[in-house]
Amino acid sequence: MPFENILWKVEDRVGIATVNRPKALNALDVKTLEELTEVVEAVRRDPEVRALVLTGAGDKAFVAGADIAAMSAMSPVQARRFADLGHRLGAALERLEIPTVAAVNGFALGGGCELAMACDLVYASEKAKFGQPEVNLGLIPGFGGTQRLTRRVGLMRAKEMVFTGDFYDALKAREMGLVLEVLPPEKLLEHAVAQARKIADKGPVAVAQAKRALEIGSGADLHVATELEIQAFAVCFGTADAREGMKAFLEKRPAAFKGS
Ligand code: CAA
Repeated sequence: MPFENILWKVEDRVGIATVNRPKALNALDVKTLEELTEVVEAVRRDPEVRALVLTGAGDKAFVAGADIAAMSAMSPVQARRFADLGHRLGAALERLEIPTVAAVNGFALGGGCELAMACDLVYASEKAKFGQPEVNLGLIPGFGGTQRLTRRVGLMRAKEMVFTGDFYDALKAREMGLVLEVLPPEKLLEHAVAQARKIADKGPVAVAQAKRALEIGSGADLHVATELEIQAFAVCFGTADAREGMKAFLEKRPAAFKGS
């Protein structure tokens, strides 16, 4: 898949998409959003890819936000379409059956922070900085920030981030629940890919069912969410992978999962 603004490769079942506009600190314009959405769609159709890692090119930014130059000329109708593209990408990442891992190597601001939050797991380099600085531009977050931020860090911290536009370093972001682990810059991608590969070794149907129960269940009431878990648990029993996983345990050997 040749892209203008995304570097894309698959290594041993793990797809790695790198947003590649370092001169604009990897800011998201329409083209980049469309290409990222294409990557997600291609991954969705490819059973060989078992996990997806997202990162940014260069040593300064993961994604420094939506492209301000592009936004500066937008009408409300165009802004609505633009926000819709960002939301479609976030939703596509959350609905993807395989796990998604953000390796935040630098600035994750505005749309960049929102992109990271749409991923299942977020690891950050010691150099990463997070923020929702849209108010400095006379704007508000438009790719899901007001909603996903609240769910990750709680309502009051989300209000602080969105009202002040402050930047938070990686350690603070970890303390707030935006980041799982903070790593030296040179170890970040290696760690993110290793975590992705660890998951890629598990039964893909089980991982997909678990992701669905966690993701959709977290937004539902407990009664509905627990029912969802029961259904997802039962679905696993129809798979060859579950038979193999339990048989392998009882025979004291590693399981060989096939994804069916
Ligand atoms: N859009 C477009 N270009 C951007 C950009 C962005 N979000 N962020 C940085 N750039 C460009 C700069 O214009 C600059 O380009 P030139 O070299 O052509 O002048 C280049 O990237 C390097 O940036 P700086 O010179 O500003 O680098 P710095 O080290 O001095 O500062 C920074 C780094 C603090 C990240 C600063 O660039 C900055 O504040 N960027 C904007 C961050 C921001 O406001 N993000 C939110 C955008 S709005 C949004 O995302 C809405 C939404 O939710 C959908």
